[in-house]
Amino acid sequence: MARPPTSKRRFNGQASGQVRRSATAEIVCAQRAAETLRPPGRQLIDDPYAKHFLTKGTYRFLTGTHLTAALTRRGFDRFYPGYMGIVLLRNWWYEAALARALADAVEQIVLLGAGYDTTSLRLGLGGATLFEVDAPPTQQAKREVIRRYGLPDHAVRYVPCDFERDTTRDHFRQPGPGLGWGTGLLHVFATSSESFADYVE
Ligand SMILES: C[S@@+](CC[C@H](N)C(=O)[O-])C[C@H]1O[C@@H](n2cnc3c(N)ncnc32)[C@H](O)[C@@H]1O
Repeated sequence: MARPPTSKRRFNGQASGQVRRSATAEIVCAQRAAETLRPPGRQLIDDPYAKHFLTKGTYRFLTGTHLTAALTRRGFDRFYPGYMGIVLLRNWWYEAALARALADAVEQIVLLGAGYDTTSLRLGLGGATLFEVDAPPTQQAKREVIRRYGLPDHAVRYVPCDFERDTTRDHFRQPGPGLGWGTGLLHVFATSSESFADYVE
């Protein structure tokens, strides 16, 4: 029987990496879109760009109005207790860490498995450069949306890299204070030849 398509394929036990845009990046993005529609001042994350990255009609519908977004938040909490909280809190934590680093005049930030994160677009990067690392299919999908909506990514350098087969550390290993961050991909490093510490040392 044919196996359902996934974002990864393996041949002869060898990982071949990501072959289509990440489904989980879109799910967590939908969660940010749903959170953004809470009453002002009550959101953990206020991400007005998140809705632009949603390609699935279901996610767009679920996050399209205040009512459907409220039902979606309740649905996530009921059927996947804690999942949305973890996603929003880690995003909140990154936002706070980035704001602190920028206040300390950080020069470069490396965001691993960036997905559809828009924190830097919302905070602004001052004089810093953000290196966004992700597998090519997801990064390309993100860049298309950024172009279509004219989102401000001029201080972002995109580093296409599939951790299961590529090494691109040379792109951003430069002297100077930096911040390294990555969320939702420790399972990838568990099977990759690289380690998270290699990227953020
Ligand atoms: C759960 S999503 C998290 C996205 C983002 N950090 C966020 O919190 O919105 C995991 C991310 O890791 C990326 N990823 C998964 N496997 C990868 C691989 N082998 N190489 C590079 N990136 C990968 C996906 O494309 C996706 O963007």
